[in-house]
Amino acid sequence: MSSICVVGLQWGDEGKGKVVDQLTSRFDCVARYQGGANAGHTVITDKKYVLHLIPSGILHEECVCVIGNGVVLDPEPFLQEVDGLEAAGISVKGRLWLSDRAHLVMPHHRALDKAQEADKGDKKIGTTGRGIGPCYTDKVSRTGIRVGELLDPVRFEARVREVMAIKNRWLTEMFDSEALDVDQVVKDYLAHGERLRPYIRDTIHYLHEEMSHGKRVLFEGAQGSLLDIDFGTYPYVTSSNSTATGVATGIGVSLRRLKTIFGVVKAYTTRVGEGPFPTELFDKDGEDLARIGHEFGATTGRPRRCGWLDAVALRYALSINDIDELIVTKLDVLDTFERIRICTAYEIDGQRVDVFPSRVDELEKVKPIYEDYEGWQASTEACTRFEELPPAAQTYLLSMERLAGVPVRMISVGAGRGAIIER
Ligand code: GDP
Ligand code: IMO
Ligand code: MG
Repeated sequence: MSSICVVGLQWGDEGKGKVVDQLTSRFDCVARYQGGANAGHTVITDKKYVLHLIPSGILHEECVCVIGNGVVLDPEPFLQEVDGLEAAGISVKGRLWLSDRAHLVMPHHRALDKAQEADKGDKKIGTTGRGIGPCYTDKVSRTGIRVGELLDPVRFEARVREVMAIKNRWLTEMFDSEALDVDQVVKDYLAHGERLRPYIRDTIHYLHEEMSHGKRVLFEGAQGSLLDIDFGTYPYVTSSNSTATGVATGIGVSLRRLKTIFGVVKAYTTRVGEGPFPTELFDKDGEDLARIGHEFGATTGRPRRCGWLDAVALRYALSINDIDELIVTKLDVLDTFERIRICTAYEIDGQRVDVFPSRVDELEKVKPIYEDYEGWQASTEACTRFEELPPAAQTYLLSMERLAGVPVRMISVGAGRGAIIER
């Protein structure tokens, strides 16, 4: 049993892409189990790649990549990604598989995502506009169209016409939006279907066969635990299980098959979109984190909100994922800070709170209780061993370990390949 899961422990963008790329050489397969083109996973080799739907293992030629049934697949960005990789000399043919059970993101999902957000006004979620919520809504309400349906173009066309007749009524009558051109959508999707055909298969059967032959799989999470539909800061969440639980439903592999569950955590915190963020900073420290960390969304380019590490939220994320080991990223971003803080508990209405609250109105009232750490004010980027890190950086990481109660296994000290310390 040597399969693992890599999951984000905050509000996404923890550096999962870099970490997965780093670990891929030890695995035969990398599989994505949830989310869609809302994700943006950056991998920097000699070139910068931003992957939205294709697993971050794809840059390793020997690695097979699987997009599981729990993912919502938008053909356009998927095919753009395929074309981009092929143009960069990275062939994906015969080593990229797409679940026939994955749901298709359609133009009406994107249109409804935008219309619903506009309708919510200042109560908007701040979605990526990629149609994620409406697509998962259709899946759950049993009206969605699955990737496998593309294999029978005649039936597929009938299904699209049937579904879109209703969606166009929603768009025009409920949201005052333009109706979509159904003929055009049918034409585009039949063309996409022909291009997708070679990638479509029963990935559940395939993965179980591979694993029964001893193949090692890395399951790659998208988004972060605090954006999970069940465990996150609802309603300011995404529409899938971004915690490790998603592996079971989004790939069809039991969590019992995982040897290790790795949690990726930034050395500080960021969030993009709306919703509570107890340790958010509005001062120079926040600006410095954003500037030094280049904190702009990899999918939408929006500035990310920045703040100190939140150990209350972290402990919660650790427990719901049953994390074995931590991977800390972007330590180097803290290199120049004089003082670094970790929130160890919350104060809500004058009461000390150690447990992450379920309600956003409570989270919005949080006054963080901080522990202060001395900055190391030295570069960590060239460090290759834990012992080479400045003593104050070691202290900071050991404190993370103490507050989390699980070991820090890897520390990323730069965006590039290789800028990572293994312990
Ligand atoms: P993901 O969504 O979790 O894969 O993360 P993103 O790719 O959206 O955002 C992480 C950003 O931080 C990317 O621009 C990475 O290139 C960058 N990055 C990852 N690890 C490190 C690190 O250790 N140090 C620095 N400075 N940048 C990093
Ligand atoms: P990766 O995989 C950061 C956020 C959006 C919004 C909320 C709901 O790169 O870490 P959605 O479009 O999913 O309905 O938006 O979730 N969000 C992310 N934030 N990283 C991501 O992915 C995200 N995917 C969605 O900003 O607040
Ligand atoms: Mg990202």
